[in-house]
Amino acid sequence: MASQFGERLRVSIYGESHGNGIGALIEGFPAGEHIDFDRLMRFMERRQGGRNALSTARKEPDVPEFVSGVFEDKTTGFPVCIRIANTNTRSGDYSNLALKPRPSHADYSAYMKWHGHADMRGGGHFSGRLTAPVCAAGGIAIQMLERRGIYVGAHLSSVGAARDDAFPMQPDPALFENIAAKSFPVISDEKGEQMQQEILAAREALDSVGGSIECMVTGLPAGLGDPMFDGIENRLARVLFGIPAVKGVEFGDGFALSEMRGSAANDPFGTDAQGNIITKTNRNGGILGGITTGMPVRFRVGIKPTPSIAQEQETVSLPDGTDTTIEIKGRHDPCIAQRAVPVIEAAAALTVLDVLLCDASQ
Ligand SMILES: Cc1cc2nc3c(=O)[nH]c(=O)nc-3n(C[C@H](O)[C@H](O)[C@H](O)COP(=O)(O)O)c2cc1C
Repeated sequence: MASQFGERLRVSIYGESHGNGIGALIEGFPAGEHIDFDRLMRFMERRQGGRNALSTARKEPDVPEFVSGVFEDKTTGFPVCIRIANTNTRSGDYSNLALKPRPSHADYSAYMKWHGHADMRGGGHFSGRLTAPVCAAGGIAIQMLERRGIYVGAHLSSVGAARDDAFPMQPDPALFENIAAKSFPVISDEKGEQMQQEILAAREALDSVGGSIECMVTGLPAGLGDPMFDGIENRLARVLFGIPAVKGVEFGDGFALSEMRGSAANDPFGTDAQGNIITKTNRNGGILGGITTGMPVRFRVGIKPTPSIAQEQETVSLPDGTDTTIEIKGRHDPCIAQRAVPVIEAAAALTVLDVLLCDASQ
């Protein structure tokens, strides 16, 4: 069993939430690429719990240790192995869960697959903690992409019924930086207030709430990607659905397009002031036939409410399957989506860098 993705840039994620450590092995980073470690740390901190009052109290320093592949702050061209220690574990919180699967978590499906042998303390390999190494690898990819004029940015676009403004059609990298600097990553702080109210209300009700994230990649040339099964959409979706709690991905206007007429849905072609071919709208999210159009790639990810809630819930007792109830203790985010914003950026950056490296080798 391996959690891997990528073709030229091969990323493997390893570890369990309450084991000794977690990490990533990245094969295929180009040699000689400078890594700004301070910037990487700031990127990883955006994912951490405890960043604002609405998040989990489990805060770990998450300092990536570079075991191999980096020398004098530059990639060597050899596999980059990153290790992150698990320091803030409280396995006792999970002792009553071993044989009582949490509704909507992976406890039950993992029990069935590995017959109870998987280390599922704290969610094991299915824990949101495993997104820390994704961010470590993706934070490096983001730096490499920026050197090539490609920028990745995301914001929390909804929580429950409250929605943020949408990204403009051609967002400036400064907007991405501005959002990344906020402890609550939204475009409109006023709308962000409403979203925070949704999270607080869910927490007070001993409940959790879902949300969505809008992500864009700017600066990509037209003509990247492959038709049918290796398109940009396919490759992004494969990685995005690997992020725990992601239950939906839509490109451009996605499902809204299915309710439109062609005359309203089509993106008319035109030229910009420099004579470049553009589309005047971008409802298809910068991808046609699986291949980039040169317009920003735009997609939205739907994240479900945190499965672990403090209310009593119905479950079964394993292995015999008798009905019982469960009360979940431990430190859980009332809304996963707010912490997942940099994770989505990281997933997008690793995928896009892989596509660029594949394209360069064709
Ligand atoms: C950043 C992040 C933090 C998460 N934190 C929690 C948590 O505190 N409690 C919980 O029950 N699930 C949490 N999850 C979600 C579970 O890991 C996920 O729902 C579970 O593995 C089942 O996978 P699925 O929802 O993709 O089917 C988190 C996910 C992410 C991305």
